[in-house]
Amino acid sequence: MTPEPQDKKTPPAGTPGAASALAAQTSPQDFNRARDRRLALWLWRTEVRPLAPLLFIGLFFLAVDGAMLGAFSLLIQPMFDDVLIARQAESLAWVAAAVAGVFLLRAFSLMIHKPLMTWLSERIVAGLQNRLLAHLMRLDHAFFHAHPPGVLIDRVRGDTRILGSTVLRLVPAIARDLVSALALLGVTLYIDWRWTLTALAVAPVLVLPLMALQRLIRKMERRSRLNSADASNRLDEVFHGIYTVQRNALESREAARFADIVKRYIIAQVRARVGKAGMAAMVDVVAAIAFVVVLFVGGRQIIAGERTVGEFMAFFTAFALMLQPIRALSALGGAWQTVLACLERVHALLHTVPRIAQPTAPLAPLPTQGETRIAFDKVEFAYDTEPVLRGFSFAAEPGQTTALVGPSGAGKSTVFTLLARLADPQAGCITIGRRDIAQMDLAGLRDMMSVVAQDSALFDETLRDNILLGAVGISEARLHAAIEAAHVAEFLDKLPGGLECRVGPRGSALSGGQRQRVAIARAILRDRPILLLDEATSALDAESEALVQEALDRLSQGRTTLVIAHRLATVRRAAKIVVMERGRRLEEGTHAALMARGGAYARLHALQFGDGSDDGSGRGE
Ligand SMILES: Nc1ncnc2c1ncn2[C@@H]1O[C@H](COP(=O)(O)OP(=O)(O)O)[C@@H](O)[C@H]1O
Ligand SMILES: [Mg+2]
Repeated sequence: MTPEPQDKKTPPAGTPGAASALAAQTSPQDFNRARDRRLALWLWRTEVRPLAPLLFIGLFFLAVDGAMLGAFSLLIQPMFDDVLIARQAESLAWVAAAVAGVFLLRAFSLMIHKPLMTWLSERIVAGLQNRLLAHLMRLDHAFFHAHPPGVLIDRVRGDTRILGSTVLRLVPAIARDLVSALALLGVTLYIDWRWTLTALAVAPVLVLPLMALQRLIRKMERRSRLNSADASNRLDEVFHGIYTVQRNALESREAARFADIVKRYIIAQVRARVGKAGMAAMVDVVAAIAFVVVLFVGGRQIIAGERTVGEFMAFFTAFALMLQPIRALSALGGAWQTVLACLERVHALLHTVPRIAQPTAPLAPLPTQGETRIAFDKVEFAYDTEPVLRGFSFAAEPGQTTALVGPSGAGKSTVFTLLARLADPQAGCITIGRRDIAQMDLAGLRDMMSVVAQDSALFDETLRDNILLGAVGISEARLHAAIEAAHVAEFLDKLPGGLECRVGPRGSALSGGQRQRVAIARAILRDRPILLLDEATSALDAESEALVQEALDRLSQGRTTLVIAHRLATVRRAAKIVVMERGRRLEEGTHAALMARGGAYARLHALQFGDGSDDGSGRGE
C-alpha cells in the first residue's frame, strides 16, 4: 500500500515536452486498476483523512436516510394484511405512526447530510486548488512554456471542481443507496427468498456491458477535460491579445477556432453521457425481466392462495423502490471514471518535480555586498533543443557596471534568467562571490537582486502596492523619493486617486513607458547589492530616458550592475562591455578599447551613430 513507486514513475515534467509527456501518461489505453486505487488512496491521504470524523457523521446520516426506504416497504405488509384486508382498527394507529416516524427521520437525516456533504466537497476542492497553486508557482520556465496560463487555470479550477461535484454525487450513492438497496434486499429476502433469488439470477447479464461502458466513459471524460483546457487557453489568448485580434480582423477566425474546440468538447461530453445513460438503461431492462419472471411465479402462488396480497405488495414495493438506488449504484462506475480522469491530471501536476529546487544542505553562504562578483563559466543553456548560450563565459566585478550588448536573440536576457535561477544551465557554472549559485538558498539568492526586466509584470492592484510589491516597513518619505527618482511622480497627478489608483489587469491602464518607470521605482525601493537592468529605459521617450537614466546611474553606484541595452550611448561609461552573439562572447573591454579594436562593437557603434557622429540619438535595430 505504498504509493511512492507510482510517484517515481511520473515523468519529471517541466521538460520541453511536458504537455505531451502528461498526455501520454494519461493516454486512454491505460486502464490500470492498481494505479486507480493508488490515486484514490492519495486523495484520501492528502485531502479527505483530516476531515474523516465529519465525513463519518455525514455517512451515518446518509445510511439512516437510505435505511428508511427499507423500513417503509416493510410497513406495506401490515398496512395491507392487518389494516386494509383484516380490517383491524387497532393496527391503523401504530402503522400510521410508524410511517410518519420513518418519513420524519428521513427528513431529519437529509437536513444534516446534505449541507455537511456539500461543505466537505467544497473543502476538498479548495484544498486541492490551494495545493496546486502553491506547487505550480515553484515550477520553472520550461513548464510554463509547455503549459500556458489558460490550460493551468482550467486544471486548477475545472478539474478540481468536477472532481468535487462528482464526489458529492458519489459518496451519497455509496452510503445512502447502498444501504437502501441492501435494506430493501433484506425485506425481499425476508418476505420470500425464492422470489428474491429468482430475480437476482438475471443480474449477471449486466457485468460485461457495464465494463465496456465504463471504459467508454473514462475515455470520453479524459477527452472532454483536454478540450476544456484547450477552450480556456483559447479564451486566455484571445482576451490577452484582444487588440491584436481587432486590429487584424481576426474575430471570425478566432470565433471559428473556439467553436471547433467547444464542439469537440460537447461531442465527448455527450458520448460520456450516452455511456452513463446506457448503464442506467441496462439496469432497467434487466430489472424489468426479473420483475416479469417474479410476477409469473408469485402471481400463481397468490392465485393458488399460498401467499397473502400484503406479502406480494410489500415484495413488489421493495423491488420497485430498489430500482432507483441500483440505478444510482450502477452510475457510480461512470462517476468514478470521471473522478479518476480528473484525479490523474491533478495528481500529475502536483507531482511535477520542480527543476529549480532549494539545494540540499549544507548551503553556500550568501555573498556579502563587497563579494558580489558575478561570473559565468562555460555556460551551456537551451530552453528546448536549440542552444541559447554556447560556452558563454564572462565576469562582472563587484561595485562596477558591466554591459551586455549584442543583437536581439543573442541570449542577453537569458543571462538574467539564469542568474536568478528561473532556469538552470545544462552545463557550466554560475558563481556570485566565487560560490556556485546552485548551492545557495534560492530565496536568498533572488533576494540579492533588483531587476528591471523587459516584461516586469504589473498586477491589478493599486499603484502603491505595485511599487511596494509586498515590501513592509517602507516609510512614505522613502517611497516618495523612489517615485521621484523613477519619474513616476510626473504622471501620478494625472491618475485618479494618485498612488491609490488601480492599474488594471497587467497594468493596462498605464502606458509602456509608465509601466517601465513603475518597475524602476520598484528596483530603487528594493535597494539590493546586485542590480540587473534589461532594456530598462527602452520604452521611454528620449527626454524622460535621459532623466531616468540619470536616476539609474545614481542607483548603480557601488552596486554590481549588469546592463542590457540596445542603445550603446547608455552603456558607454560601463567599466566593461561584453559583446554577445548567438550565445557566445565575441569580445569584451571598455568602450575605448573596443572602439580601438575595430571589431563587432565598433561596427555596431558605427551602425548606430553613423561614422564619426557621436550625438547619441541613434537607435539600435
Ligand atoms: N521562455 C523561452 N522559451 C523558449 N525559448 C526562449 C525563451 N526565452 C527566450 N528564448 C529564445 O532564446 C533566445 C535568446 O533569447 P533572449 O535571451 O531573450 O535574447 P536577447 O535578450 O539577447 O534578445 C531566442 O532565440 C529566444 O527565441
Ligand atoms: Mg532580451
